[in-house]
Amino acid sequence: MKHSIELLIDASQIADQVKQIGAQISQRYPDPERPLVLVGLLRGSCLFLADLCRQLERPVILDFMNASSYGNAMQSTRDVRVLKDLDDDIGGADVVIVEDIIDTGYTLSKIREMLLLRQPHSLAICTLLDKPSRREVDVPVDWIGFSIPDEFVVGYGIDYAQRYRNLPFIGKVIPE
Ligand code: PRP
Ligand code: MN
Ligand code: MG
Repeated sequence: MKHSIELLIDASQIADQVKQIGAQISQRYPDPERPLVLVGLLRGSCLFLADLCRQLERPVILDFMNASSYGNAMQSTRDVRVLKDLDDDIGGADVVIVEDIIDTGYTLSKIREMLLLRQPHSLAICTLLDKPSRREVDVPVDWIGFSIPDEFVVGYGIDYAQRYRNLPFIGKVIPE
Protein backbone atom coordinates (compact mmCIF):
# COMPACT_ATOMS: atom_id res chain seq x y z
CA MET A 1 0.00 0.00 0.00
CA LYS A 2 1.32 3.42 -0.95
CA HIS A 3 1.37 5.61 2.13
CA SER A 4 3.05 8.46 3.95
CA ILE A 5 3.81 9.03 7.64
CA GLU A 6 2.49 12.03 9.55
CA LEU A 7 3.85 13.13 12.93
CA LEU A 8 1.56 12.35 15.88
CA ILE A 9 3.78 12.47 19.02
CA ASP A 10 7.30 13.91 18.83
CA ALA A 11 10.43 12.60 20.53
CA SER A 12 10.48 15.19 23.31
CA GLN A 13 6.83 14.54 24.24
CA ILE A 14 7.69 10.83 24.45
CA ALA A 15 10.77 11.53 26.57
CA ASP A 16 8.76 13.68 29.02
CA GLN A 17 6.14 10.98 29.50
CA VAL A 18 8.74 8.22 29.86
CA LYS A 19 10.44 10.27 32.57
CA GLN A 20 7.18 10.76 34.49
CA ILE A 21 6.19 7.12 34.29
CA GLY A 22 9.71 6.12 35.35
CA ALA A 23 9.43 8.32 38.45
CA GLN A 24 6.04 6.82 39.32
CA ILE A 25 7.27 3.25 38.93
CA SER A 26 10.31 4.04 41.11
CA GLN A 27 7.96 5.34 43.82
CA ARG A 28 5.64 2.36 43.62
CA TYR A 29 8.45 -0.17 44.24
CA PRO A 30 10.73 1.37 46.87
CA ASP A 31 12.10 -1.90 48.34
CA PRO A 32 15.33 -2.69 46.48
CA GLU A 33 15.47 -6.10 48.22
CA ARG A 34 12.48 -7.47 46.30
CA PRO A 35 13.25 -8.09 42.65
CA LEU A 36 11.51 -5.80 40.15
CA VAL A 37 11.19 -7.46 36.76
CA LEU A 38 10.33 -5.42 33.68
CA VAL A 39 8.81 -7.77 31.12
CA GLY A 40 9.18 -6.37 27.62
CA LEU A 41 6.82 -7.75 24.98
CA LEU A 42 8.78 -8.22 21.77
CA ARG A 43 9.18 -6.71 19.45
CA GLY A 44 7.19 -3.50 19.81
CA SER A 45 8.14 -2.54 23.36
CA CYS A 46 11.92 -2.63 22.90
CA LEU A 47 12.53 1.11 22.46
CA PHE A 48 10.10 2.13 25.21
CA LEU A 49 11.58 -0.45 27.59
CA ALA A 50 15.13 0.69 26.86
CA ASP A 51 14.29 4.31 27.66
CA LEU A 52 11.97 3.54 30.59
CA CYS A 53 14.39 1.29 32.47
CA ARG A 54 17.01 4.05 32.44
CA GLN A 55 14.59 6.33 34.30
CA LEU A 56 14.19 3.93 37.24
CA GLU A 57 16.04 4.83 40.39
CA ARG A 58 16.56 1.24 41.54
CA PRO A 59 17.95 -2.00 40.15
CA VAL A 60 15.65 -3.88 37.77
CA ILE A 61 15.72 -7.19 35.94
CA LEU A 62 14.89 -7.18 32.24
CA ASP A 63 13.16 -10.18 30.72
CA PHE A 64 11.28 -10.64 27.47
CA MET A 65 8.33 -12.48 25.96
CA ASN A 66 7.21 -12.58 22.39
CA ALA A 67 3.48 -12.94 21.94
CA SER A 68 2.69 -11.87 18.44
CA SER A 69 -0.94 -11.33 17.54
CA TYR A 70 -0.69 -9.23 14.40
CA GLY A 71 2.10 -10.95 12.49
CA ASN A 72 2.40 -8.78 9.41
CA ALA A 73 -1.29 -7.95 9.21
CA MET A 74 -2.86 -4.58 9.97
CA GLN A 75 -5.59 -6.22 12.10
CA SER A 76 -5.28 -8.22 15.30
CA THR A 77 -5.75 -11.94 14.68
CA ARG A 78 -7.06 -12.34 18.27
CA ASP A 79 -5.07 -15.55 18.37
CA VAL A 80 -2.17 -14.68 20.63
CA ARG A 81 0.75 -17.07 20.16
CA VAL A 82 3.59 -17.19 22.67
CA LEU A 83 6.70 -17.43 20.49
CA LYS A 84 9.18 -16.86 23.31
CA ASP A 85 8.61 -17.20 27.06
CA LEU A 86 10.46 -15.47 29.92
CA ASP A 87 13.92 -16.80 30.73
CA ASP A 88 13.54 -16.56 34.52
CA ASP A 89 10.96 -17.48 37.17
CA ILE A 90 8.94 -14.47 38.40
CA GLY A 91 7.54 -16.15 41.56
CA GLY A 92 7.61 -13.63 44.44
CA ALA A 93 8.84 -10.75 42.27
CA ASP A 94 7.22 -7.43 41.50
CA VAL A 95 6.50 -7.57 37.78
CA VAL A 96 5.68 -4.78 35.36
CA ILE A 97 4.68 -5.76 31.84
CA VAL A 98 5.91 -3.10 29.43
CA GLU A 99 4.00 -2.75 26.17
CA ASP A 100 4.13 -0.27 23.30
CA ILE A 101 0.41 -0.19 22.53
CA ILE A 102 -2.89 -1.70 23.65
CA ASP A 103 -5.42 -2.12 20.92
CA THR A 104 -8.02 -4.92 21.32
CA GLY A 105 -6.41 -5.98 24.62
CA TYR A 106 -6.04 -9.64 23.61
CA THR A 107 -2.24 -9.68 23.83
CA LEU A 108 -2.05 -8.20 27.32
CA SER A 109 -4.96 -10.10 28.79
CA LYS A 110 -3.47 -13.41 27.64
CA ILE A 111 0.02 -12.57 28.94
CA ARG A 112 -1.39 -11.24 32.20
CA GLU A 113 -3.32 -14.47 32.86
CA MET A 114 -0.25 -16.56 32.05
CA LEU A 115 2.03 -14.58 34.36
CA LEU A 116 -0.45 -14.45 37.27
CA LEU A 117 -0.36 -18.28 37.41
CA ARG A 118 3.34 -18.01 38.28
CA GLN A 119 2.50 -16.19 41.52
CA PRO A 120 4.45 -12.96 41.32
CA HIS A 121 4.30 -10.72 44.41
CA SER A 122 2.52 -8.15 42.20
CA LEU A 123 1.77 -7.70 38.53
CA ALA A 124 1.25 -4.32 36.86
CA ILE A 125 0.94 -3.13 33.27
CA CYS A 126 2.56 -0.15 31.65
CA THR A 127 1.90 0.92 28.07
CA LEU A 128 3.17 3.83 26.07
CA LEU A 129 0.04 4.09 23.90
CA ASP A 130 -3.57 3.13 24.41
CA LYS A 131 -6.36 3.03 21.86
CA PRO A 132 -9.37 2.78 24.20
CA SER A 133 -11.93 2.92 21.38
CA ARG A 134 -10.61 -0.41 20.02
CA ARG A 135 -10.78 -2.43 23.23
CA GLU A 136 -12.51 -5.84 23.00
CA VAL A 137 -11.33 -7.37 26.30
CA ASP A 138 -10.83 -5.53 29.58
CA VAL A 139 -7.29 -5.27 30.94
CA PRO A 140 -6.31 -3.32 34.05
CA VAL A 141 -3.62 -0.83 33.04
CA ASP A 142 -1.52 0.95 35.67
CA TRP A 143 0.42 3.43 33.55
CA ILE A 144 -0.51 4.88 30.15
CA GLY A 145 1.75 7.29 28.28
CA PHE A 146 -0.77 8.58 25.75
CA SER A 147 -4.35 7.71 24.82
CA ILE A 148 -4.72 8.03 21.08
CA PRO A 149 -7.57 7.87 18.56
CA ASP A 150 -8.04 4.88 16.27
CA GLU A 151 -5.20 5.63 13.83
CA PHE A 152 -2.67 3.13 12.50
CA VAL A 153 0.52 4.31 14.20
CA VAL A 154 4.20 3.48 13.71
CA GLY A 155 7.56 4.41 15.20
CA TYR A 156 9.37 4.19 18.55
CA GLY A 157 9.16 0.39 18.32
CA ILE A 158 5.82 0.09 16.54
CA ASP A 159 5.82 -1.38 13.04
CA TYR A 160 3.82 -1.52 9.88
CA ALA A 161 4.78 -4.86 8.24
CA GLN A 162 7.99 -4.79 10.35
CA ARG A 163 9.05 -1.37 9.06
CA TYR A 164 9.37 1.97 10.85
CA ARG A 165 10.21 0.65 14.35
CA ASN A 166 13.32 2.84 14.30
CA LEU A 167 11.50 6.17 13.91
CA PRO A 168 12.31 8.32 16.98
CA PHE A 169 8.71 9.65 17.05
CA ILE A 170 5.17 8.22 16.77
CA GLY A 171 3.61 8.83 13.38
CA LYS A 172 0.38 7.83 11.72
CA VAL A 173 0.20 5.93 8.45
CA ILE A 174 -1.75 7.86 5.81
CA PRO A 175 -2.87 5.75 2.79
CA GLU A 176 -2.44 7.59 -0.51
C1 PRP B 1 1.20 -5.29 18.50
C2 PRP B 1 1.55 -4.34 19.62
C3 PRP B 1 0.95 -4.99 20.84
C4 PRP B 1 -0.28 -5.67 20.29
C5 PRP B 1 -1.50 -4.84 20.61
O1 PRP B 1 2.13 -6.36 18.51
O2 PRP B 1 2.95 -4.22 19.75
O3 PRP B 1 1.83 -5.98 21.36
O4 PRP B 1 -0.10 -5.77 18.87
O5 PRP B 1 -2.65 -5.40 20.03
P1 PRP B 1 -3.84 -6.05 20.84
O6 PRP B 1 -4.14 -5.18 22.04
O7 PRP B 1 -4.96 -5.99 19.84
O8 PRP B 1 -3.48 -7.44 21.21
P2 PRP B 1 2.35 -7.33 17.26
O9 PRP B 1 1.53 -8.55 17.43
O10 PRP B 1 2.17 -6.55 16.00
O11 PRP B 1 3.87 -7.78 17.41
P3 PRP B 1 5.16 -6.82 17.43
O12 PRP B 1 5.19 -6.20 18.81
O13 PRP B 1 6.30 -7.74 17.21
O14 PRP B 1 5.00 -5.79 16.36
MN1 MN C 1 3.68 -6.11 20.27
MG1 MG D 1 3.42 -5.47 15.06
